[in-house]
Amino acid sequence: MSKLIQNGTIITASETFKADILIEGERIAAIGQNLHAPNAEWIDADRKLILPGGVDPHTHFDLPMFGTVSSDDHYTGHKAAAFGGTTTVIDFINQDFDSLKECVDAWHAKADDKAAIDYSFHMNIVNFNDDVAKQFPDLLEEGITSLKVFSAYNGVLRLDDEGIFNVLRTAAKYGMLTLLHAENGDVIETLVADALKAGNTSTEWHALTRPSWGAGEAILRVAGMAQAADASLYIVHMNTEIGADMLKYSRERGIKIMGETCPQYLFFTIDNMRQSDGAKWVCSPPMRSKEDNARLWQAVERGEMQVMGTDHCPFFFDGATPIVYEGEEIAIPGKELGKDDFTKIPNGLPAVGDRLPVMWTEGVVSGRMSANEFVAMNSTNPAKIFGMYPRKGALLPGSDADIVIWDPEKKVTHGVAHSHQRTDYNLFEGWELTGYPEKVFLRGEMIVDGDEWLGKKGGGEFLKRKEGEVL
Ligand code: URP
Ligand code: ZN
Ligand code: ZN
Repeated sequence: MSKLIQNGTIITASETFKADILIEGERIAAIGQNLHAPNAEWIDADRKLILPGGVDPHTHFDLPMFGTVSSDDHYTGHKAAAFGGTTTVIDFINQDFDSLKECVDAWHAKADDKAAIDYSFHMNIVNFNDDVAKQFPDLLEEGITSLKVFSAYNGVLRLDDEGIFNVLRTAAKYGMLTLLHAENGDVIETLVADALKAGNTSTEWHALTRPSWGAGEAILRVAGMAQAADASLYIVHMNTEIGADMLKYSRERGIKIMGETCPQYLFFTIDNMRQSDGAKWVCSPPMRSKEDNARLWQAVERGEMQVMGTDHCPFFFDGATPIVYEGEEIAIPGKELGKDDFTKIPNGLPAVGDRLPVMWTEGVVSGRMSANEFVAMNSTNPAKIFGMYPRKGALLPGSDADIVIWDPEKKVTHGVAHSHQRTDYNLFEGWELTGYPEKVFLRGEMIVDGDEWLGKKGGGEFLKRKEGEVL
């Protein structure tokens, strides 16, 4: 059945205007003034804003790590995303097998029956050789056009410089984008060993053993490799002033490099990790200083940073005490695993449902960004960079009808109850927010209506992506 959304104000990455939207099936059929569709279901959006569904290019659902698993799976994480106005996510596949196709199949086996919003995958490359290089076309066949490499997590995920350079070269050959986790693995390993030897096991040492200059030098080093390889590069989860400076420096010199930060790095610091519940903030790269927060905000405000992701990788704070999720008790070992040793705290935190509501209040309502810039960073830019535009990230005839009716007046005291993330805490607990999703549509179907969940397991579609744009 067709649907007609009337009287709303449309916000795209570049324009704001009053218009009606006609949805036919899964797609937007028309956008214009006074559209007539007598047989369509009528939805009034008076005094509301109409945004394209959020695109979060950085999630980790059902990820085995630190002897446990991230606590949102591909259903609960998708549901939380939807309540926060996000209708597309991209998750990271572990390179667990020699065959990349087998790795992809393993992620599909975890995700396909559970997916409640549309989704795609990036491929982590943690082992690289000629055989792996030959398999990059297999990823393209699967619709996977982006690869993540790590300059940290020695002996587990890290590639050496030769490996990173060769991934960049091979990716460039096939029109693929390389994503970088930028820290200095050798410095971290040395400082962690020193800290443990000295008995420094408290939570803050997670940050103290991962110096911010490690991110800065890794970004510049790999930007240099991207230049030599004529490859495009995307820096994930940027958390430092020096990183933002190196991104700007490299972009000004014509390197095809783009940056993503996440809400947590704009608001929190190492001081949060010094609290008794500091493990809630443990992720890699870590929380830094007020100066880093300020420089990252500046990069966002000046358009130096292209994307707001989340790096959503939640764990329980107290995995011994169950919570109730969809009527069932559940407890998953979490941050308590590292109560005596910071190296054992699972790295990661919840954010997928928080991103749009928090960034609207703190970014748009506070006057730091326009509503159009908000749409660009949270939806249109990631859709373009990751090869999904204009199907996703756009309000255009022919685009998927992934639509958020946003109530800019709605006041919410945010937290666990609102975000629907399957964990026992929320970093933004008690924050007073103004502006919240009212209705969320996925390919024309309403999946969130206020507090009501209408989505379903298996309702999400896997997106085979094409080559993306360099912004
Ligand atoms: O601490 C984090 N961010 N965990 C997820 C893995 C990663 O490096 O993105
Ligand atoms: Zn990472
Ligand atoms: Zn991540």
